[in-house]
Amino acid sequence: MKKIKRSGHIGILTSGGDTPGLNAAIRGLGKSAASDGSFQVIGFRDGFRGLMENRSERLDNKMLSGILTLGGTILGTSRDKPHKMPMGGKYVDMTDVIAENYEKNHLDALVCLGGGGTLKNAYRLSQKGLNIITLPKTIDNDIMGTDVTFGFDTALGIATDAIDRLHSTASSHHRIIIVEIMGHRVGWLALGAGLAGGADAILLPEIPYTIDKLADSILERVSRGKRFSIVAVAEGAINREGANKIKAIEKKMEAAEGEQRSAFKEQIKQLDNEYRGSTIKMADELQKITGLETRVTILGHLQRGGTPSAADRLLATRLGTSAIEYLKKEQYGIMVAVDGERTKPVPMEEVVGKINYVPPDHPWIISARNLETSFGD
Ligand code: F6P
Repeated sequence: MKKIKRSGHIGILTSGGDTPGLNAAIRGLGKSAASDGSFQVIGFRDGFRGLMENRSERLDNKMLSGILTLGGTILGTSRDKPHKMPMGGKYVDMTDVIAENYEKNHLDALVCLGGGGTLKNAYRLSQKGLNIITLPKTIDNDIMGTDVTFGFDTALGIATDAIDRLHSTASSHHRIIIVEIMGHRVGWLALGAGLAGGADAILLPEIPYTIDKLADSILERVSRGKRFSIVAVAEGAINREGANKIKAIEKKMEAAEGEQRSAFKEQIKQLDNEYRGSTIKMADELQKITGLETRVTILGHLQRGGTPSAADRLLATRLGTSAIEYLKKEQYGIMVAVDGERTKPVPMEEVVGKINYVPPDHPWIISARNLETSFGD
């Protein structure tokens, strides 16, 4: 293992979907490295692509100044993967070029700020011998091994505010308003915002719904004199039919290998495309069954944009400054995780490829059920 020299070089990149708080984390890491001169920090542009193309910039005080409150990432980001880099219309494995650039820049370590996909890519690089630390960021909050990810709190606030605003118009027009909230695999955002915003029904990827059960819950509200309803739907919510089809293929996939396994994966992808993200189709069905005028609002990237909340700034700053402490101790191959008021190093191999789903007995689910919120199940 390489020895960290004082005034060594650290690389940093942001990868995957941008998230409020990224700049706060970059600033926390950069400023705490500069405070005792322990490291010089080099920022790579646009995720792993920038490292592959050796596009970088020294993160000096000027670069780090005034960025705490900015949304997005001053470094830029991309979803490009080292081993599957889009190059001239095809995918090329550029891992070796990335490793060469790591050496050329005399890096003692690389800090990757990202979600589940970034974690997988970073882990692959660490298996190639690079010293890696990751920080957990994503509005989806779907990373295992950490209490929470930064970006989630801001997105939760935006989605909750949206539900608040939709309430008054839904109520005035006596309509159903369906609000689609980000979260392709997990429903933390839809659940959190749905509960905080008082949605009448919440649909999550983890709890397959049936349209009839959802319609019944809304008609039951009508029978109690409630003339409007708000439905918070996660982007990846799925009906029972789709979920059963996917489950059946996943079962077959367990014993499959090689080409057969890839074929099953492809079938799942197709079913995902067919059944998830079908909020508009679902709204049409709901309108037909209930006879109530229905509208859809898709929040989309609004949830990722703009100023990070105070909680996210705090969290990202804590993670960024902690990363420097672990680097000084030469602790590599870790994700810096949130553990209550502290951070802890979690070996990447323990969490890579795992998804933090909403458990069916999570206190937020129990509270929502106690409030007679429908999950359409
Ligand atoms: O991973 C964060 C996320 O915002 C998801 O909630 C969403 O499904 C996805 O990214 C959207 O990705 P993109 O910005 O690449 O369209």
